[in-house]
Amino acid sequence: MKFLRNLNKKEIVGKTCLLRVDLNIAEKEAKNSPRILGILATIEFLTNNGAKVVILSHRGRPKPVKRINPKSKILNPKEFSLKPFAKILSKLLKKPVHFIDFSKNWKEILATINGSKNNIFLLENLRFLAGEEKNDRKLAKQLARLGDFYVNDAFAVSHRNAASVSAITKFLPSYAGLLLEKEIKNLSVVMKNPKRPFVVILGGAKISDKIGLIKKFSAGERRADYFLIGGGIANNFLLAQSLPIGDSIFEESTVNFAKKMLKNKKVILPVDYAIENRKILDIGPNTIKMYSDIIKKAKTIIWNGPMGYFENPKFAKGSGEIAKAIISNKKAFSAIGGGETASIIHNSKFIIHNNIFVSTGGGAMLEYLAGKKLSGIEALK
Ligand code: 3PG
Repeated sequence: MKFLRNLNKKEIVGKTCLLRVDLNIAEKEAKNSPRILGILATIEFLTNNGAKVVILSHRGRPKPVKRINPKSKILNPKEFSLKPFAKILSKLLKKPVHFIDFSKNWKEILATINGSKNNIFLLENLRFLAGEEKNDRKLAKQLARLGDFYVNDAFAVSHRNAASVSAITKFLPSYAGLLLEKEIKNLSVVMKNPKRPFVVILGGAKISDKIGLIKKFSAGERRADYFLIGGGIANNFLLAQSLPIGDSIFEESTVNFAKKMLKNKKVILPVDYAIENRKILDIGPNTIKMYSDIIKKAKTIIWNGPMGYFENPKFAKGSGEIAKAIISNKKAFSAIGGGETASIIHNSKFIIHNNIFVSTGGGAMLEYLAGKKLSGIEALK
C-alpha cells in the first residue's frame, strides 16, 4: 500500500487529487465529528503542496438514480445532500470550498474544477448515482477523469465495495490518506499484540454485527481476558439463560450464539440494571463498579457500543462511567469505535489522552477487528 504521506511536493503540485472521505455524519454533530476533523490535515497537506482537491463522499442511504438528471426529483433531497458540508468544511479550513451538484454533466464538472480559481471542491452525495454502491467500473472511470490521483481517507466506508472506494483505484495512482493511515496503525496495535489484561467492552443494540469480533478475540494469541457486556446485547445473554427481560430489546437469531458464548468464562454480564416500563435501559451501580475495577487494571481496551439508552440522561450513567474508567486508565491503550461510543467519549468532561484512539469507523472498525479484509483497503494494495 502506498501512503500519501510519502509523496513529495513535486509529485503533488499542479495535480488534482480525488479525496474519498466519509461525511456520513449528522449535520449538527459535524463540527466536532472525528470524521470531519480527521480529514482536515489531509486536505491541508494536499493544498499546501499545490494540489486541487475534489472531495468525494456519500451521506446516508438515498435511493440512487440511473444517470445524472437535474430534473429528477430524487436528486438533492435535503436530508441526503452534502451541500451543507461545503460550508462546514470551509469554516474549519478557513478556505472556500466549492460545492458541485449533479445539475452539471461530467464534462461541465471537469470544466468547473479546471477553470476555477478555488482549489477545494466537494462533489454531491455519490450515492445519488446508481453505480456507486454497485462498485460500477463505468462510474469509477468517469470519476477518475476528474483527477490525476486518488486518496482514500475514508476508513469508515472502506468495508463497502463502492465505485469511489474500490473500483476507482483501477484507474488512478492510489494512496492511503493520513487519517486512513492513522486508523490502520492504531487498530493494528490491538490486532497484533494486545498487552494484558486485554478487555473488550461491547454494548449497543445489536449483537449480530459484533459476532465476528467476539469470535476473533475468543481464542488464540489475541484472546481477550474479559468481555464486558452491556446495552441491548446483554439481553441476549439473559435470554440464553432463560432469564426474564420484560419488554427489552433482543435479537432472536443470536440467542444460540449467546448460549455458546456463556461457556466462555471470560464473558462478564451485568449484575444489576436500570429498568423503566419493563425495559432494561442501563447497567446498574454494582455493574459499573465491577466493570470499572476490571478496566482500571487493563493494558489494552476495545470499546464499541453504549451500555444503555444513553440518549436519555436518566440512562447515560453506565456509558459515562465506563468512559470515565477508560480515560482514567492512562497506562492502557484503548481503541474506541462506533459513532455513539465516540460521541460518549468526546462529550465526557475528561481530557482524552494520547493512549486513547477514537476510530472513525463503526461497521468498518468491527469488520477490521474481526480480521475481515476491507475492500477499500485491499484495493489500495
Ligand atoms: C458508516 O457510517 O458506518 C459508513 O459511512 C457506512 O455507511 P453505510 O452503513 O450506510 O454503508
